[in-house]
Amino acid sequence: MKGEESVRTPMRIAVIGSGYVGTTLAAGFADMNHDVTAVDIDEAIVKTLNAGESPIHEPGLGGIIARTAGESLTATTDYTAITDAQLVFIAVQTPTTADGSINTDALRAATIEAVDTLVAGSERPDGHVIVIKSTVTPPKLAALREDVESRTSGSDIDIELASNPEFLREGSAVADFSAPDKIVFGIDSKRAGDWLEQAFEPIIATKSPDVIRTDPETASMIKYANNAFLAAKISVINDIGNICKEFGIDAYVVAEAIGTDHRISPEFLRSGVGFGGSCFPKDVRALIAEAAQAGYHAPLLDATVELNEEQPTRMVSLLEKHLNPAGARVAVLGLAFKPGTDDIRNSRSIPLIEALKKRGAQVVAYDPVATPPMRERFPEIEYANSAAGALDGADAALVMTAWDEFGALDTEFDTMTRPIVVDGRRIIERRDGITYEGLTW
Ligand code: UGA
Repeated sequence: MKGEESVRTPMRIAVIGSGYVGTTLAAGFADMNHDVTAVDIDEAIVKTLNAGESPIHEPGLGGIIARTAGESLTATTDYTAITDAQLVFIAVQTPTTADGSINTDALRAATIEAVDTLVAGSERPDGHVIVIKSTVTPPKLAALREDVESRTSGSDIDIELASNPEFLREGSAVADFSAPDKIVFGIDSKRAGDWLEQAFEPIIATKSPDVIRTDPETASMIKYANNAFLAAKISVINDIGNICKEFGIDAYVVAEAIGTDHRISPEFLRSGVGFGGSCFPKDVRALIAEAAQAGYHAPLLDATVELNEEQPTRMVSLLEKHLNPAGARVAVLGLAFKPGTDDIRNSRSIPLIEALKKRGAQVVAYDPVATPPMRERFPEIEYANSAAGALDGADAALVMTAWDEFGALDTEFDTMTRPIVVDGRRIIERRDGITYEGLTW
């Protein structure tokens, strides 16, 4: 935000949880000149922040933390630092459980600790708003609100629980924070809405996002609906893309044309090997599971997940058109769930490598940054230090992540034993001398 307006009326803000959402939020508010305390139970993270460094890799974040640490941003493990905070944001993990629903133990523990700390030692006569940033389903948010109400009912400290869901993308979190399409406030009172608006004031003033005020459960549903819709959009274009492939049609030409219809929009129409990451798969599954608990079977979201699971298998089927994977040396290019990150959570490369191993292929994998986490997941496969190294002597290459450097590959394909390339992300140029298969084109 530097170089843009800083906030007119700085607020005392605490942010509990310093993952990628919490750190981006704390740093972003500190950069607007709010007085921010980041609270995390992990001492190493607290030390890193206080040393002016980012605990996570996110473009632009390190610079903001370097210039705000010790000034408008401090970090601590001590919850009593929140007792003078007007707004207390909670941004802790809500991991998935075996049935797909979310586990709110950490969220509940952090929220209850915050409430108890405020009830015991509030330094603000005007009270506090605790704002849930974590992604939590409406039924579980409602249960949390009941818990909080029962703990605050006997107290004369005014504590309100609100929700302000996050729409940041990994890799562009800082930019997304500073220039969102919308900001959603799930609130019970005008006071909470006004405080939240004051916190985001420079963004609202300079970027004019839509500001939506609603109740907390609806706000949390907006987050799930947003991710479910985008995930479903990818599965729809993948479904269309698979049909295009069968018909011998290029799905990207089709996508470009339908993207001109403003009701469809050109975004999120890249068909291929499917969506991964920590959010889409988890959030869609949570919605399916908790809808089922409420008595509704969500057929479209079921199909969204099913289709996404099948895309890597289609890569293998295309490979099998040209070669029997048993005993073949197969290069897997790209392990991260998307370019620009070393995050492999739900990466489509994981089921692909499993499928290749099952068929007896000898897998050699390469990613510019995501090899270390994948090596932990699959220690038994071979890892190359470069794309060229992976291609050298390979019988086939499967392209799983749209890293720019894969688009620049050229004569490197000449070193393959049998240059068969199955492209899952439309990043490789067709060229003479290689047998090229696009997943949906
Ligand atoms: C996603 C949402 O985009 C954010 O708005 C949301 O805040 C975030 O989840 C979250 O809930 O925290 P992210 O997981 O960082 O963000 O990743 P995206 O850039 O949305 O990509 C997700 C996956 O979809 C990637 O695997 C990507 O390769 C795939 N994708 C995306 C496609 O296959 N085709 C497309 O056209 C677009």
